[in-house]
Amino acid sequence: MIMHTSLLLCRILLLGFGNIAQALLPLLASRQEWMAQELSILPLITGIGTRRHGFFIHSQGIDAPQLVQTAQPLHFFINQPHIQQVTDAQTFLHTGKAAGATLLIELTTLHPQDGQPALSHIQSALAAGMDVITANKGPIAYAQAELQYLAQQQHVQLRFESTVMDGLPLINLHQFTLQAVGMQSFRALLNTTSSLVLSMIEQGNTLEAAIAKAQAVGIAEADPWYDLDGWDAVMKTTILANNLLSGKLSPSQVKREGIRALPADAIRAAAHAGAPIRLVSTGSYKDGTIMAEVGPQHITQDDILHVGKGTTSVISLETEAMGTVTLVEHEPVVIQTAYGVLSDLITILRQK
Ligand SMILES: NC(=O)c1ccc[n+]([C@@H]2O[C@H](COP(=O)([O-])OP(=O)(O)OC[C@H]3O[C@@H](n4cnc5c(N)ncnc54)[C@H](OP(=O)(O)O)[C@@H]3O)[C@@H](O)[C@H]2O)c1
Repeated sequence: MIMHTSLLLCRILLLGFGNIAQALLPLLASRQEWMAQELSILPLITGIGTRRHGFFIHSQGIDAPQLVQTAQPLHFFINQPHIQQVTDAQTFLHTGKAAGATLLIELTTLHPQDGQPALSHIQSALAAGMDVITANKGPIAYAQAELQYLAQQQHVQLRFESTVMDGLPLINLHQFTLQAVGMQSFRALLNTTSSLVLSMIEQGNTLEAAIAKAQAVGIAEADPWYDLDGWDAVMKTTILANNLLSGKLSPSQVKREGIRALPADAIRAAAHAGAPIRLVSTGSYKDGTIMAEVGPQHITQDDILHVGKGTTSVISLETEAMGTVTLVEHEPVVIQTAYGVLSDLITILRQK
């Protein structure tokens, strides 16, 4: 057992307390001892903010093992001593910073039209000198370059591994491992909800039942049509084009077609014929310009994307130095996204 008095404290603000944040707390709790031994750091949750429950700062901070002792960790932050309740997200960030928080984990709802208000949350946290981790695709798809410039100016980090393929190291792979590999193109199944819905329809379920299942396991966006109309995949495709292919795309430059209009009969017939339909993301260079798109495609048996079942996510990268590299994330649920957030946290803490 490590003495907590010998550890450096990392005070964290959690903005958004839905599926991912609730999966993150037990993971953080179970890795607390490891973080103490490996990094000599004790993470403390200094604030939690949500749209409906309110925004709370705990002046001392609470560690994750304590928070997960109850099924309702938010109760530690509501009507308790040491708690200050503030009115909005911006005040939450400034009050949290004043209470010693140095890191924001932004896990609010995706708004694919403009990435707001998460984009403003992240801007404010970076401007206040806080490191930021997010799984929210909107701010990164719309404003990664500007946010990273701000982070650089403030000598802090912005990390976003979980925005694409959850905790599977894709952004990290490119940044740390496959450096200067000469990335040429990617082709991928990135939207888990649409894969689940299509595979359930293939098995004879209704669209409504399939959406309900995706919501029950916590993988659907707050508005599941953002998944089925291809918006989620467009955000991810933009992020990949800008990171893997060094692009400067905005989401409006990614061609989008969702799966809303596909008749159930056609979905079942395609699967029956051995070439199921899936929502495919692609990015490549054409005449020096990056072309990126999202749309339904038949996945034939000899297609590299034909691996895995149900919600399995796959990405195949064409590279100059390493040929074809394919990564598969088998049937991800929320824990994989939470792990991506944890791995970003560890990366930031190691580099401090
Ligand atoms: N679920 C996944 O598998 C997955 C995978 C990768 C990335 N992501 C991304 O991760 C983020 C979180 O996902 P999730 O599944 O945890 O979402 P979720 O369950 O819908 O939870 C979203 C949380 O954000 C809060 N929120 C929304 N707008 C807010 C605002 N303006 N100010 C403060 N709080 C606000 C909500 O508060 P109230 O409940 O009080 O309204 C809720 O606590 C999303 O951006 C999503 O796209 C999710």
